[in-house]
Amino acid sequence: MGLDAGGNQREGGVRPRGVPQAPHESQRTMTPTADTPSRDPHSRPRLALVTGASSGIGRAFALRLGANGFDLIVVGRRGERLEQLVGELPNVTVRPVVADLGGDAGVQAVADLCGREPLTLLVNNAGVAHYMPFVDLPADKASELLHVKVVAPTMLARAAAGGMVARGDGAIINVAGMLAFSGPAPLERLPLRRAVYTAALAHIVALSQALHEELKAQGVRVQALCPGVVATEFHERQGLDLSAVPRMSADDVVTASLRGLALGEVVCAPGVEDAGLLDAVSQADLAAFSGQAVGLATRYR
Ligand SMILES: NC(=O)c1ccc[n+]([C@@H]2O[C@H](COP(=O)([O-])OP(=O)(O)OC[C@H]3O[C@@H](n4cnc5c(N)ncnc54)[C@H](OP(=O)(O)O)[C@@H]3O)[C@@H](O)[C@H]2O)c1
Repeated sequence: MGLDAGGNQREGGVRPRGVPQAPHESQRTMTPTADTPSRDPHSRPRLALVTGASSGIGRAFALRLGANGFDLIVVGRRGERLEQLVGELPNVTVRPVVADLGGDAGVQAVADLCGREPLTLLVNNAGVAHYMPFVDLPADKASELLHVKVVAPTMLARAAAGGMVARGDGAIINVAGMLAFSGPAPLERLPLRRAVYTAALAHIVALSQALHEELKAQGVRVQALCPGVVATEFHERQGLDLSAVPRMSADDVVTASLRGLALGEVVCAPGVEDAGLLDAVSQADLAAFSGQAVGLATRYR
């Protein structure tokens, strides 16, 4: 436990269990947009929790939200990276929480935090891909991937949503990726061994769409954020060199997400010019869903 730049207590390099409740946060009334106004000195501060804030897109979210006046809880395994954010955002309270979302204990600890804290915004961003042939994917890596990209976003959203509904305000951004839509792509066209990662992203998209429908009337917005290839440490940490590939900046991804939230987009695809393509995917899903009947389809008889 230490003091941050604002003189408030914060966690540094400790696990989130036992984290004391923020002393003065109970009501959030403003919503995040790309051009969020600076904090009204008479209003209570807005609070965002960002997972995977130690690098890439999560770090870009933390810096943008902090610059826009959000107090932050930043989650990741590399505590020293999270600590840097405290110094980089001296005008807001930043609480680093070191947690491993690759297993049940870490997910539970951060979910507890999401349930305790009056979050205005939850950004489920942490991720790993473990691209490799399905039969070679070690069970522990498959389990880690599923915890970070499926169990964690689901359980954190579940823990945070109740409070948001009670306050009638809040937003949940779930970082998926365009690979969510790549399931049917032939391997010759997309020679990336990606089955579990792609399935995890598809889970995030479906979860976000269904949750949006469930929570929209209660003032809670949900977004599935689907970037393409982004210039972060993501591929490099898996031994892939994509430095020669044109990549979007993490900052642009954040701009699209916050703007998309303001536009009411449920699936936000920063690199897709024609938003109608995403609507068409949803319409095709619904057409197939509605096209079923009780009787056995003719081709199976
Ligand atoms: N880069 C791309 O091309 C791309 C494209 C589409 C979608 N995405 C998605 O974007 C999200 C952010 O990735 P990025 O591109 O910004 O990559 P990145 O720079 O590698 O960041 C990944 C973040 O996730 C955290 N993380 C990974 N495993 C974790 C674990 N077990 N427990 C807690 N935190 C964990 C990392 O923190 P620690 O290592 O400190 O724990 C790091 O902060 C991911 O969910 C990814 O699926 C990325």
